[in-house]
Amino acid sequence: MSRRTALVSGASRGIGAAIAARLAADGYFVAGTATTEQGAQNISAALNGNGVGLVMRVEDADSVAAALAQLTEQADPPTVLVNNAGITRDNLLLRMQEQEWEEVINTNLNGLFRLTKACLRGMIKARWGRVVNVGSVVSRMGNPGQSNYVASKAAIEGFSRSLAMEVASRNITVNTVAPGFIGTDMTDELTDEQSEAMLSRIPLGRVGTVEEVAGAVAYLVSDAASYVTAQTIHVNGGLYAA
Ligand SMILES: NC(=O)c1ccc[n+]([C@@H]2O[C@H](COP(=O)([O-])OP(=O)(O)OC[C@H]3O[C@@H](n4cnc5c(N)ncnc54)[C@H](OP(=O)(O)O)[C@@H]3O)[C@@H](O)[C@H]2O)c1
Repeated sequence: MSRRTALVSGASRGIGAAIAARLAADGYFVAGTATTEQGAQNISAALNGNGVGLVMRVEDADSVAAALAQLTEQADPPTVLVNNAGITRDNLLLRMQEQEWEEVINTNLNGLFRLTKACLRGMIKARWGRVVNVGSVVSRMGNPGQSNYVASKAAIEGFSRSLAMEVASRNITVNTVAPGFIGTDMTDELTDEQSEAMLSRIPLGRVGTVEEVAGAVAYLVSDAASYVTAQTIHVNGGLYAA
């Protein structure tokens, strides 16, 4: 059997980079995306022959189509999709600008809809597929200052459950991985005070690593998880018991 192609959005750094590295180590041909040409080149270099970096902005339909066309010139259409790309634009709702709301929804939610739809046909044709969407613990807990981000992440879980039911008969599973507090550029933006407050609430007493999130994704896309669909796996050190 030829190698399965796994597409990971937002693979230039943080959790996405760890997922791309893990899936490459597990034997997939990995396409990882970045928003810049330099980022895409770095991904290609990091994957070291086991995949390719692509430029993709998930909020831009033309960019998504161009990246997928480029990918299918050199590999089978992706049958594993990890929707990991995500951004924050934090503000209290009273101060939140329309642009802050729209950028988050367009990237985290509309981008995920667009990319998933574009990849689904190939999975249906292959009669096998895995979609893993990266949510967040805050979709269950709520988080002041993040109503836009939390709305997008809560929507992702509902989207995943519904799509799972639509495509189950085609042997395609759809699940969410919900990370807690993981050490990346995204969490580096928090103030020391915010970080300490968050840490004090984590029973395992530490921030999670990107590899620990990648491990949950690797399980969900594997054959071992063939009977797991419409679920959310929480990777949060006990911060929230779902
Ligand atoms: N870190 C945490 O504690 C945490 C917790 C819960 C959930 N999450 C979720 O986990 C995912 C990864 O988070 P992270 O902390 O690893 O983030 P990160 O370090 O900020 O990296 C974000 C990734 O998304 C890409 N990206 C940004 N805007 C994009 C766009 N418009 N189109 C396509 N790609 C875009 C970035 O590409 P460039 O490098 O080109 O900008 C980068 O690869 C996100 O969905 C986030 O919401 C993170």
